[in-house]
Amino acid sequence: MPFDRELACELLATYGSPLYVYQSDRLQQTIEHITQAIPYPRTHFHFASVTNGNIALLQIFQASGWGLHANTPGDIYLGIQAGFNPNQIVYSGSNLNRTEMEQVFNWGVTMLNLDSLAQLQLCCQVYQSLSESVKTPRLGLRLNLPQLTGESRIGVRPEEFGQAIALTQSFGLTLRGLHFYRGTGTNATKAFTQVIDRVLTIAKRLPDWDYLDFGGGFGYPYHHNGAAFNWEKFGVELTQQLNNLGRDIDLVIEPGRAAIAGCATLLAQVVSVKWQDGKQILGVDTTVANLSVPSVHGGYREIVTWEKATPLHPTDVCGNTTYSRDYLGRNCQLPALKIGDILAILDVGAYGYAMSSHFLHRPRPAEVLLEHGNHRLIRLREDYSVLLNNQEFVGWANG
Ligand SMILES: Cc1ncc(COP(=O)(O)O)c(C=O)c1O
Repeated sequence: MPFDRELACELLATYGSPLYVYQSDRLQQTIEHITQAIPYPRTHFHFASVTNGNIALLQIFQASGWGLHANTPGDIYLGIQAGFNPNQIVYSGSNLNRTEMEQVFNWGVTMLNLDSLAQLQLCCQVYQSLSESVKTPRLGLRLNLPQLTGESRIGVRPEEFGQAIALTQSFGLTLRGLHFYRGTGTNATKAFTQVIDRVLTIAKRLPDWDYLDFGGGFGYPYHHNGAAFNWEKFGVELTQQLNNLGRDIDLVIEPGRAAIAGCATLLAQVVSVKWQDGKQILGVDTTVANLSVPSVHGGYREIVTWEKATPLHPTDVCGNTTYSRDYLGRNCQLPALKIGDILAILDVGAYGYAMSSHFLHRPRPAEVLLEHGNHRLIRLREDYSVLLNNQEFVGWANG
């Protein structure tokens, strides 16, 4: 269990249910583990905040010396609110319009990895139009090579590099980085280590190459008895190969889920119990709209309880709507539970709250941080008024 039952009861009594609970010590341990695993001296860690944009958590990364990886302008906006200096933010996103590209520059972000020739051109044009007031950017290309990156719409093919280099030079800029994203969430360390040399060979095709951004995509062992990504092995192999390059390049690593998944738990309470053909059907006070990963996106999150009764029964943990996919877990092994019992849905720090929505019109849970033996609210529980946000209508009922 992530923490003891007394604390779970206290948290629910204080903040209500369902509740996202983050453990600062666990998060810091993970940050430390990843940081220590890569001995290469010019390594810069950037937390991929697409996974979790809570400012209090971003501040933990910032205080640990990490930068931020931004997928979108919104990531940058949140990062700056959290206290990151724009030069600690790496942008590697897709399909910005001109206004957004200008905004990125005006915020002061200077490291940008572009994912198409059109985005590279827009970036250069925007820089040229703003060059009086903004810093010279450090530009890179996101690699697209199906054998290495998997089939993806994102990125630039090596055969386009010549054009990209010429284009960038025509604006008086240089292409200095290669961004590689292996693919999402694999625990197979080899999937990363065995492609390092090929990525480096491709990077050398950029004459002014001086940084490698190696992603993103490192797995987290949601199945606790399954394989985990081996950070030490990855770090040693990558360092060896970079040390043998014969040139000084900066390394950017931008973990998302691997850094933050394990520090969070979604607490929920049982509101209904029924049995169907030997299976326990638990109704709980949360929904896939609060945590969409397991059911909507086909992920798995372990669900546990403090109740110790035996035997265990096959159990479906069902959300509090009739949406046909409203399952938090299917075929879990849980003891016979009763109304009011507490369930802990584990490892929800990444793509949890960040992917929650107002689908099904249930307000979102609160978020709480455990740190230094205390707990504090880091995001208010929503109430129904949030469902009216930005709606314009006549016949306003209750103000
Ligand atoms: C460029 C980039 N880096 C990092 C991440 C974080 O991914 P993960 O959580 O798989 O590490 C993403 C996710 O979309 C991404 O697009």
